[in-house]
Amino acid sequence: MKDIFDREKEINVLRNSLDSPLTVILGLRRTGKTSLVKSVLNNIRATYVFLDMRRFENKEYIVYKDFLSVLEREVNSITRKYKGLVDYFKTVKGVNFAGLSLSFSWGKERTELSDVLSSLNEWAEDNGNNVILVLDEAQELIKLKGYDILPSIAYTFDNLRNLSFIVTGSEIRVKSKFLRFDNENSPLYGRAYVEINVNPFDKDTSIKFLEKGFEEQGIKFSRAEEVYEELGGNPGWLTYYGYVYIKKRDTDVMEGTKKYAKKLLSTEFCNFLIEGNRLQSKERYLKVLETCKFGCSWKDIKNALEALEGREINDDTLYTILHNLLEYSFLIKENRKYFLADPILKEISNVKC
Ligand SMILES: Nc1ncnc2c1ncn2[C@@H]1O[C@H](COP(=O)(O)OP(=O)(O)OP(=O)(O)O)[C@@H](O)[C@H]1O
Ligand SMILES: [Mg+2]
Repeated sequence: MKDIFDREKEINVLRNSLDSPLTVILGLRRTGKTSLVKSVLNNIRATYVFLDMRRFENKEYIVYKDFLSVLEREVNSITRKYKGLVDYFKTVKGVNFAGLSLSFSWGKERTELSDVLSSLNEWAEDNGNNVILVLDEAQELIKLKGYDILPSIAYTFDNLRNLSFIVTGSEIRVKSKFLRFDNENSPLYGRAYVEINVNPFDKDTSIKFLEKGFEEQGIKFSRAEEVYEELGGNPGWLTYYGYVYIKKRDTDVMEGTKKYAKKLLSTEFCNFLIEGNRLQSKERYLKVLETCKFGCSWKDIKNALEALEGREINDDTLYTILHNLLEYSFLIKENRKYFLADPILKEISNVKC
């Protein structure tokens, strides 16, 4: 199974966890979560329903109808593939049929997620199969209003032996705000799950990744270390660099890659500010990122913010700022120090939201 580079450990853990009811895959933007999931599932020819929640990224909120329309499309893509599957939906409330296609309703007689899952499970059971439901970039579902899909996931845990979930997210809050394993009121409270972290490549792996990519194109590339020093080990940035380099060697490839990465991370940062009503605190948040570009302590941040505002910043305020940046995975905390999750974040200081 080698359509992705490295990641042996993650591939093995994911393969071995496919029987578990829930696997959570966490990693920053462009570290390769989607590639990992698709590569493993395609290689073992798994039957899966892939729900891409990133499509809701620019929406302020989502309603059940939005979710259901994605589910409908993806369920249809497997009912067309497996003869007989469509029959398992005959008794499900709110489902209409046209040949091998299904349509779900969201009116009074709305189609319930748990019923769809039960039908898939029943079909899988009868065919000695397993169905995997992937919720890709599940933090977007925090914006789902008026419908809670967690009870359906909990129901799957308890009752549906032939169905499992893979949930990916590029923000830590996918666990604390969406799945809420630690919250006593959450349907998933205390459930066991497998967690896989997809981290940026280390220096050695990044260099090998770049060199191998170029080698496959018949290019001898000697600046891999330099590229790593500038971009860090995010596979998405490295891939983009390689792609642009091969396509148009004459332009400034590094500048172009940084521009691309900065644009993507700036959008993430603006969404973070807008979603949490934090736009008025933009300068504060940017100051924290700037202060932490080579690592920083609580005291460093406090001093920097006090210098910015010319007044004392109380500890509660500072705690909230840091908590928010950690939740959205802009910062990482190690040994009581804070670091930028991606080196490109130090370059978004002039972001306009
Ligand atoms: N292990 C890998 N081997 C080869 N290419 C990779 C690997 N990981 C990531 N990539 C490449 O990096 C880019 C980003 O990967 P992918 O879309 O899987 O990341 P992601 O974490 O799902 O990103 P996003 O946060 O945008 O959803 C893709 O072009 C992908 O092909
Ligand atoms: Mg992805």
